[in-house]
Amino acid sequence: MPVERMKRILVTGATGQIGSELTIELRNKYGNDDVIAAGHRRKPSEKLFNSGPFEYVDVTDREGITKVIKKYGIDTIYHLAAVLSAAGEEKPQLAWNVNIDSLYNILEIARKHELVRVFWPSSIAVFGPEAPRVNTPQDTVLIPRTMYGVTKVAGELLCNYYFIRFGLDVRSVRYPGIISSETPPGGGITDYAVEMFYEAIKKKRYTCFVREDTVLPMMYMPDCIKAAMDLMEADLSKVKRYVSYNVAGMSFSAGELVAEIKKYIPGFECGYKPDFRQKIADSWPMSIDDSVASEEWGWRSTHDLAAMTKDMIEKNDKTIC
Ligand SMILES: NC(=O)c1ccc[n+]([C@@H]2O[C@H](COP(=O)([O-])OP(=O)(O)OC[C@H]3O[C@@H](n4cnc5c(N)ncnc54)[C@H](O)[C@@H]3O)[C@@H](O)[C@H]2O)c1
Repeated sequence: MPVERMKRILVTGATGQIGSELTIELRNKYGNDDVIAAGHRRKPSEKLFNSGPFEYVDVTDREGITKVIKKYGIDTIYHLAAVLSAAGEEKPQLAWNVNIDSLYNILEIARKHELVRVFWPSSIAVFGPEAPRVNTPQDTVLIPRTMYGVTKVAGELLCNYYFIRFGLDVRSVRYPGIISSETPPGGGITDYAVEMFYEAIKKKRYTCFVREDTVLPMMYMPDCIKAAMDLMEADLSKVKRYVSYNVAGMSFSAGELVAEIKKYIPGFECGYKPDFRQKIADSWPMSIDDSVASEEWGWRSTHDLAAMTKDMIEKNDKTIC
């Protein structure tokens, strides 16, 4: 069955790490006026603000979101607004309220207004220490230890329910840590990977908040955007599941990233001072099996550690230095 066309798109969390770049790519593809960016408190970048419509929306306020849906005739939502893993451990009640209330609001609005499609990202944080940590499979036990992970498991089940019960076309992936150069990450466990690049270029030194041998799955921003857009454009017959798809990019230890950066910045020095985030990192997968996403809708990542590092250094040299 061909995929129903998405004509007017709302992106929540549009000023965040992923939203700030995904919104621009969506505007490039669907037209500037047809992709509405919704931010909250944080001022949008000039690029985001000047390239198309922008609204301030609190995603826990259903009426506020509904007004925007009606104002622009929205038929598709990329719902990215959330409180992330480390920030969520500091304020677990806020993480539950924002992550779950907002998803429920978006799904209810999509159902009532018969929207075409919803994208909502889950995370590798759905897994806990009981799941196999190497090549973590698509279907395995989900007992996360963080409130963020709890909201992502609950969210996956809610999306699945809305598909089965109401036929709502809601699609989702479990992102690993996202590495990018435009907007700093917003309080996740994998933030050290991005911080390391910025500090290596600016100060040639960095103190990492996880151990040198900590291995986590990561993904470069172009692949993150590709995963969202490929899945949303996939033929409906290929999207066989409405809990989130595992998607993988690369896996490396903090020490391996340091070694890769040193190829470009030989004087870079990294120390290690693990804090509360180490325990969370130790409960997460080290690598992800994404063969189901590959088989069903053709998912393939394009950047490994070497390609990502080269691109990050080249881009940051221009933008940060
Ligand atoms: N970045 C990653 O490494 C990563 C990994 C896995 C999953 N994800 C998921 O991808 C999505 C986007 O993540 P991100 O990295 O861009 O996060 P981010 O923290 O950079 O951005 C999230 C945005 O949500 C907004 N927000 C928070 N509370 C809000 C509210 N009440 N109303 C409206 N907006 C509100 C914030 O202003 C922020 O701009 C999230 O669902 C996240 O869980 C991200």
